[in-house]
Parts: sequence; structure tokens; C-alpha cells
Amino acid sequence: MAVSRTPFLAGNWKMNLDHLQAVAFVQKLHWSLRDAAHEDGSVEVGIFPPFTDLRSVQTLIDADRIPFSFGAQDVSEHDAGAYTGEVSAQFLAKLQVGYVIVGHSERRQYHNETDEVVGRKVQAALRHGVVPVICVGETAEDLEEHGASAVPAAQLVRALEDVAADADIVVAYEPVWAIGSGQAATPQQAQEVCAALRGVVAEALGPVTAERTRILYGGSVKAGNIAGFMREPDVDGALVGGASIVVDEFSAIVRYQKHVGV
Ligand code: PGA
Repeated sequence: MAVSRTPFLAGNWKMNLDHLQAVAFVQKLHWSLRDAAHEDGSVEVGIFPPFTDLRSVQTLIDADRIPFSFGAQDVSEHDAGAYTGEVSAQFLAKLQVGYVIVGHSERRQYHNETDEVVGRKVQAALRHGVVPVICVGETAEDLEEHGASAVPAAQLVRALEDVAADADIVVAYEPVWAIGSGQAATPQQAQEVCAALRGVVAEALGPVTAERTRILYGGSVKAGNIAGFMREPDVDGALVGGASIVVDEFSAIVRYQKHVGV
């Protein structure tokens, strides 16, 4: 029997919005969804602000019982110690941070994060009950040379080495050429790679975990194209960058069911 996966619409704010702007943004997004009579629980709404915003966001969400999940954008592979500038998964867990983005292409590219580092960060998150959102994706050159799925699938194989079969993870397929470019993949391209990634999860963690694991598409997702992605059977949500810090745009993305025609 098919397991139903709750769609996950996640906003990766990247290095945008300070903690005061974050509080205003979360309130406005909440009001926008209320005004539009959005049904809480029909999808999971997640926001991924910078580290310095997390405490303020957690306090607001907790106090006003706002039904959003929140996560960090990176985590240390270590739990504690002499690692200046790093933030550990146990600190995130203490702040009720539910998720952490691991292996985003901007970290792979600008911070030399290798598949090995990504794998250790996945382990660190799981050790403390923080769900890793494992990002994989091919560059334009990879696409030309190896096709769409080969590189993301290989990255995911490495990230899942030593992960327990019953682990809670989220996977995000983010073609590097689609990030911030305005040129999203087609829904068919996203479906093809997300299906291949589900195969990788099945191989590594078994079919039951593969069936319940959410696989997101990311890369130039907007209110105008989200519906197409969400119609695909193996695309369970989106990791949204630029459009996630514009209240009306992200609110419309969250309400994609109103314009998806399923
Ligand atoms: P984008 O970014 O939506 O601005 O393309 C997506 C991401 O990097 O997660």
C-alpha cells in the first residue's frame, strides 16, 4: 500500500534577513496563509534562516503556536570542542531545530565540502535527532557529460553510507545550473532524477524507508511553476531559495494545492 508523504515546502533563506526581519517575515507569512484560509497540516511549511535568527524564530513559533517547522542551513560534523566558528547539532537540537540543510551546492562549491564531509554532517545531525535535508545535484557540465541522475545519485550513495535503515532524512535534488538562474528543471526532469534518488534510498535504507522519505526539488522554484513539480509522483515538495524570502510568493507556493488541479 502506498504511503502518503506530507508535502514539504521549505524556504532556504541563505544569508538573508537578520533576526528582526526574520520575526516580521514569519508573522507576515503566518497572516498571509491565514488570510488565504490555508489549511494547516495539508502541507508542512519549513523555514531555514541564518543561525543568528534561529532563537528568535523558535521563540515566536513557540509562543504564537505557528505551525511552521524550522531548520538550520549547515551544521558541524563535530559535537563540541575546539572548532572555532562551528555550530553543533546538539545545540540545534536544544533549540528545537527540526532540520538542517546538509551539502547545499553553495557549501560544496565555496566551502569545499566533499561527499565525505557531507556524510559526516549527516551523521552528526542524526546523532542528535535533527533531520538532515541532504542536497545533491549536478552542474551543467555534469549534465552534459553524465546525464542528469548520475552525479546526484552518486552523491546520495556517499551521504547515506553508514546511515541506519530507519533514519529520518529528507533529500533535495537541486541541479546546480537551476539554482538562482531563473531556469528551473522541467517537472519531467525533476521527476526522473527524484525517482532515481528514491531508488538510491531504497538500495541503501530499504524500500520502506524509501517509500516514506520525502524527496524535494529545488532550483528556481516560484509560485508560477510549483504546481507542475508537485504533480509528479516522486517530487514531495520544494527547497526554495530566492522566492522563499518574498512573503506573497512563498505564501502562494505553500498554497500550490489551490492551483495544482489534482
Ligand atoms: P533558488 O535556490 O530557489 O533561488 O534557485 C534554491 C536553493 O539554493 O536552495
